[in-house]
Amino acid sequence: MTRILLLGGTGEASQMARALAERGADAIYSYAGRTEKPVAQPLPTRVGGFGGPAGLAEWIRAHGITHVIDATHPFAARISRNAIAACAATGAELIALERAPWVARAGDRWIHVPDIDGAVAALPESPARVFLAIGRQNLAPFAARPQHHYLLRLVDEPSAPLPLPRAKAVIARGPFTIEGDMALLRDHRIGWIVAKNAGGAGARAKLDAARALGLPVVMIDRPALPPRPVARSIAEVMDWLAHSARLGV
Ligand SMILES: NC(=O)c1ccc[n+]([C@@H]2O[C@H](COP(=O)([O-])OP(=O)(O)OC[C@H]3O[C@@H](n4cnc5c(N)ncnc54)[C@H](OP(=O)(O)O)[C@@H]3O)[C@@H](O)[C@H]2O)c1
Repeated sequence: MTRILLLGGTGEASQMARALAERGADAIYSYAGRTEKPVAQPLPTRVGGFGGPAGLAEWIRAHGITHVIDATHPFAARISRNAIAACAATGAELIALERAPWVARAGDRWIHVPDIDGAVAALPESPARVFLAIGRQNLAPFAARPQHHYLLRLVDEPSAPLPLPRAKAVIARGPFTIEGDMALLRDHRIGWIVAKNAGGAGARAKLDAARALGLPVVMIDRPALPPRPVARSIAEVMDWLAHSARLGV
């Protein structure tokens, strides 16, 4: 019997959930619980952390999970590491639905940095208007550059004061369009963009808008993960499931 745990929190995970539901798969969708109103899923859904790799392994055993699909965000490295460890400990099969990273095109002005600290260091000394397109975690390090005005785009209204002296938040949930993002950059007179190399379609509009306006983008590279089986599409995940079912996993 195949029983699937789908680790989610992304647009790709929602698409994966639809594909599993359409096939009548026995699957449970898992949210970390970061947003106030998560998108409803066509699968039974649980919310909240498992309690580290040991907690996830225990949960996998207790719920008879045979297959784990890690469709979390490429920057959600902790849960992905936990999934690798928990699947190794329990013998559950693991696959990551991982989007290809974005690659610069002609006209892009990207400055590649390895992490958040690198992004802080890459900003100019003179005051600038910066679109910090990195979500609400990891904002505090930018307080080291208090001369800049920061524009944030968040899913929920912030529940606590922002950790940056000159910051404005717009509340919006993707996917976004190039027209909308060009208007956002123009309206806020943005000169610099900081982005995580998430890949995928839902968040790429800001990069197309930056190229169209000739703006520099500080591009944060993905965190490194231990080797794991990777699928680039939902069809590949479905093939993997069908294959392991044929093998009697
Ligand atoms: N990081 C981003 O830029 C980003 C962007 C868009 C969406 N997201 C989504 O937001 C969620 C949290 O991201 P993050 O960067 O905080 O992750 P993270 O640093 O990898 O995870 C931190 C902890 O949150 C819990 N967790 C994360 N994803 C979970 C899931 N799908 N189901 C149950 N527990 C989960 C785990 O807690 P325990 O150790 O207690 O199990 C994990 O150790 C992820 O589901 C991710 O897909 C993240």
